[in-house]
Amino acid sequence: MIECRALSKDYGNHLALSNLSLKVEAGDAFGFIGPNGAGKTTTIKILATLQEPTEGEAWVGGYSVIDQPDEVRRVLGYMPDQFGVYDGMRVWEYLEFFAAAYRVERPKRRKLVDDVLELTDLGKRRDSFIETLSTGLKQRVCLAKTLLHDPAVLILDEPASGLDPRARIELKELLRELTRMGKTLFVSSHILPELADFCNKVGIIENGRLLVSGDVHEIQSGLGRGRRMRVKVLREQEAALALVDGFNESADAFLEDGEIQFEYRGPYEALADLTEQLVRFGLVEFAEEKTDLEDLFLKVTGGPS
Ligand SMILES: Nc1ncnc2c1ncn2[C@@H]1O[C@H](COP(=O)(O)OP(=O)(O)OP(=O)(O)O)[C@@H](O)[C@H]1O
Ligand SMILES: [Mg+2]
Repeated sequence: MIECRALSKDYGNHLALSNLSLKVEAGDAFGFIGPNGAGKTTTIKILATLQEPTEGEAWVGGYSVIDQPDEVRRVLGYMPDQFGVYDGMRVWEYLEFFAAAYRVERPKRRKLVDDVLELTDLGKRRDSFIETLSTGLKQRVCLAKTLLHDPAVLILDEPASGLDPRARIELKELLRELTRMGKTLFVSSHILPELADFCNKVGIIENGRLLVSGDVHEIQSGLGRGRRMRVKVLREQEAALALVDGFNESADAFLEDGEIQFEYRGPYEALADLTEQLVRFGLVEFAEEKTDLEDLFLKVTGGPS
């Protein structure tokens, strides 16, 4: 759905992007992570057809951002990092205005606006003036706007910046809902954990270079780290530990506070066998530790960002 091939962007005195290639498949939620000035917005603006690369090519929904910008804009919903202010406009007026700009016919506009208001949970705010809304709600109005033409691909530049923890959780819920609807998401952030639980893929960018990109678990195993697993059994914990320790592709097993921990690098499916064998020890818990993106990021960039 999104592909960048050898993208470079030279702002004259500064190489903001250097030979960046990445791929995002349909239905992926891709987290684009990097510190300030890494080149996230530059990449996103190229994908959104607002800027041309100095070198390289990119495609969105199969269309070239350079040769077919109109087609790209039709399949793409883009939310910039800065929200423009529209003083004196009510939420519904703002959305109707853009629906009209997208050439949605007048009779269909009302229904469309109601639909996106409902999806973004803004129904109660339809008559509010936008400038009176909180940052979190403004952000949602902006997201509602990008959904008006029902784009298959959504590119959001730091959608969570400036939001309080509650608004962040609500935003995440909304983004999750959008992936469930089958949309492809490309979301940038410099705050790593906020992307961890809904992105299936990540790319880490620093100084205009993509350091790593792909499935979070695969990146971890590539770095020599397996999945961190936790197991709790009620009986014969030492025997259970020995079993876990001897299991294919498991490593560093130890028992602490009545809980067995180990690292696992093998295929996911094989874990089902292990749980079956552990049942006779009174298995009550078998869990994978949440992927710690922050950890991953530090490991990839080789130091604090
Ligand atoms: N129009 C421009 N002219 C010159 N340099 C620019 C321009 N836009 C961006 N840059 C530079 O290119 C680099 C990448 O900027 P970019 O905005 O893409 O980073 P970012 O990852 O989005 O950062 P942030 O997290 O701060 O939003 C930065 O060093 C920035 O100063
Ligand atoms: Mg930026």
